[in-house]
Amino acid sequence: MARKMVYDWKSWWRAVQKNNYFVIKFGVSVLLVGLAFRLLYDRSSDLSPVPDAPFLENTRISAPPVVSVDSQENTDQGTTQDSEGKCNPFIGDWVPYEGEPLYTNVSCSIIEDHQNCMKNGRPDTDYLYWRWNPRGCELPRFDPTRFLELMRNKSWAFIGDSISRNHVQSFLCILSTDEKAIEVYHDENYKSRRWLFPSYNFTVSVIWSPFLTQAAIFEDINGVSTSEIKLHLDKLDKNWTEQYKSLDYMIIAAGKWFIKTAIYYEKDTILGCHYCPKRNLTELGFNFAYRKVIRNVFDYIISSNHKGMIFYRTTTPDHFEGGEWFSGGTCKRKEPAKEGEFELNELNKILRDIELDEFEKASAKALEKRVNLKLLDVTRLSLLRPDGHPGPYRFFQPFAKDKNATMINDCLHWCLPGPIDTWNDLLMEMVVNG
Ligand SMILES: *[C@@H]1O[C@H](CO)[C@@H](O)[C@H](O)[C@H]1NC(C)=O
Ligand SMILES: *[C@@H]1O[C@H](CO)[C@@H](O)[C@H](O)[C@H]1NC(C)=O
Ligand SMILES: *[C@@H]1O[C@H](CO)[C@@H](O)[C@H](O)[C@H]1NC(C)=O
Ligand SMILES: *[C@@H]1O[C@H](CO)[C@@H](O)[C@H](O)[C@H]1NC(C)=O
Ligand SMILES: *[C@@H]1O[C@H](CO)[C@@H](O)[C@H](O)[C@H]1NC(C)=O
Ligand SMILES: *[C@@H]1O[C@H](CO)[C@@H](O)[C@H](O)[C@H]1NC(C)=O
Repeated sequence: MARKMVYDWKSWWRAVQKNNYFVIKFGVSVLLVGLAFRLLYDRSSDLSPVPDAPFLENTRISAPPVVSVDSQENTDQGTTQDSEGKCNPFIGDWVPYEGEPLYTNVSCSIIEDHQNCMKNGRPDTDYLYWRWNPRGCELPRFDPTRFLELMRNKSWAFIGDSISRNHVQSFLCILSTDEKAIEVYHDENYKSRRWLFPSYNFTVSVIWSPFLTQAAIFEDINGVSTSEIKLHLDKLDKNWTEQYKSLDYMIIAAGKWFIKTAIYYEKDTILGCHYCPKRNLTELGFNFAYRKVIRNVFDYIISSNHKGMIFYRTTTPDHFEGGEWFSGGTCKRKEPAKEGEFELNELNKILRDIELDEFEKASAKALEKRVNLKLLDVTRLSLLRPDGHPGPYRFFQPFAKDKNATMINDCLHWCLPGPIDTWNDLLMEMVVNG
């Protein structure tokens, strides 16, 4: 069912106001917030090698008009079985889990401070005791030893932004119950890293590429930018494409960075921009850029004749309540939400529609070319986990000095251990049986 979805500035504003959509107040608050971060960081005794601002690692986001596009209306209902009668593991429920998490803040030493909720003093632990139960089948728990055996001489990469980094840590922590990973590479800012499981000769990388496409970014460590991002929509980021052939498995994801102010290029010529009112350029909307880039990524994969397995991970929701991250929003829940309690916000809906739409087109072509392209569709199961974010516990002991301290909450990234460990149960299932 194809329907023309037309967005314009006005309807965007209306939607935004109705949904209290988080990007909106950015234009105004960006400077204040940037300042707040600097103060926070200056005072912080946090020695994490990756001291980034909490969301999108950056504060320079602005009200994004979405420009009218033709779009398939996605029937995002989901069924428990696919057309071949195979179980759809992404449709299911969170049910109580009696076992223990596969790792803890003590057994796994590589959890980034901002996501190490246990170490930071998050008092409740109920959020650890849920497992994902697909409606059509059983999802086995990740078996690290079995998995590592399968991965002898193989290499994986997680490619994307800070959520991919969050994910790789969960992956490594689970595997480290069998053998500790040794870090063998990191770049200057610890954004791209590589580890080795020596007994298995198994390599795992995280590759920093928040746009997947070539980007010139002019930001300091506080996320304060001095100029618009220059985004080359037609040139994929060499940070990952140069390694592509040598990788056996990849999990690619992107999305949230596209809402930032950017100038779009194709063939080194300016096409237009996203949110650049001072520039007298055509506003193309971030949806335009995201769709183009995803399409290029898929085209690249399809024409690559790659023999490994490639996943595209869908967008992940945040769960700010009572405000946004810069306006006192929190995520205080202690257990999963009920179906329907949280809706995807407008931004995530747009990103997801593009992902599903482009993946559907690409997967038919991939099948023809015998390229193993899969969707790791974690959006819905993650939407049900408002209890899984660090909230104020992105900082160490945030209430030690002042019980009433007001903190900037992180309701976007995920506590480790936590709900995203399930993403790896799903990955393993798809690798072993997919
Ligand atoms: C792990 O978390 C507990 C609280 O859950 C805390 O007491 C302990 O200091 C933490 N240890 C490390 C090494 O982070
Ligand atoms: C891994 O590579 C080594 C050295 O090339 C080889 O001897 C071994 O058989 C390989 N193992 C597997 C499972 O492919
Ligand atoms: C490790 O795996 C790579 C392939 O990924 C292979 O070329 C190499 O020989 C292996 N090394 C050992 C020591 O098995
Ligand atoms: C590529 O990686 C480097 C080092 O991690 C990073 O500074 C750069 O921003 C990355 N490129 C893009 C387009 O993200
Ligand atoms: C903006 O661009 C249009 C078309 O390129 C041009 O006609 C117009 O004069 C420009 N306005 C300014 C203020 O530069
Ligand atoms: C915290 O707030 C409560 C009321 O909300 C107040 O009674 C208490 O004195 C405050 N504590 C501190 C340390 O400010």
